Amino acid sequence: KETKDQLIIDAGQKYFGATMCKSCGMIYAASNPEDELQHVQHHHRFVEGIKYTGWKKERVVAEFWDGKIVLVLPRDPSYAIRKVEDVQELVDNELGFQQVVPKYPNKTKTLLFISDEKKVVGCLIAEPIKQAFRVMSEPTGPETPSSKECQRAWQCSDVPEPAVCGISRIWVFRLKRRKRIARRLVDTLRNCFMFGCFLSTNEIAFSDPTPDGKLFATKYCNT
Ligand code: ACO
Ligand code: ZN
Repeated sequence: KETKDQLIIDAGQKYFGATMCKSCGMIYAASNPEDELQHVQHHHRFVEGIKYTGWKKERVVAEFWDGKIVLVLPRDPSYAIRKVEDVQELVDNELGFQQVVPKYPNKTKTLLFISDEKKVVGCLIAEPIKQAFRVMSEPTGPETPSSKECQRAWQCSDVPEPAVCGISRIWVFRLKRRKRIARRLVDTLRNCFMFGCFLSTNEIAFSDPTPDGKLFATKYCNT
């Protein structure tokens, strides 16, 4: 009984005064010193990571009223590669990927969506692939597992289909979601992945999508 009371008190403290930081998007309780410390650490890394100072040579591949998309290729200057690696680290952190970021592979193409506030608010990392496996519609019924651990185990077809371009990461800053930034990143990718052609949605594949990623991909590909 004592334990239960304690839990309730903890939960109360945890949610008391919970706020979302408008710069880094983290939700935390300012009244909780531990939370606050975690926020300060995350905040600094995040704000530095998404800061975009502008590059002497930047490859602008699309422009919009609220920002632009810049393409980064493997032979680009080290400051550009470093920015992509920093952003990828933040993204992987958010997605719960534990592995160390590998050296920028030589066929990778990265698109960064730069907001008019000079911040990287969207990132898409793509690489050439030869085949993909179609995600099948989820099984429905009372026995469908719904716990969080199971949400990633989509059923895939075991028949490979030809594909051209694999999207290994797609990410949009929490406070900028549902503004069609991901959609514009994929549209732009289809246009600039292979010179001189516009890829069809059948030719692109999303690797290991998260629940968010799957909702987006389903909508985008209209499947
Ligand atoms: N729930 C339901 N529908 C969604 C969602 C969602 N969370 N996100 C996108 N959609 C659908 C909507 O229909 C939306 O159109 P609407 O807003 O007019 O209804 C349409 O997709 C287009 O959405 P965008 O605004 O272009 O998507 P957004 O810029 O918000 O980015 C993304 C989507 C990248 C998945 C974002 O939610 C995100 O960064 N999530 C966290 C990181 C993540 O999980 N990334 C995917 C990993 S999988 C991979 O990288 C291969
Ligand atoms: Zn913050």
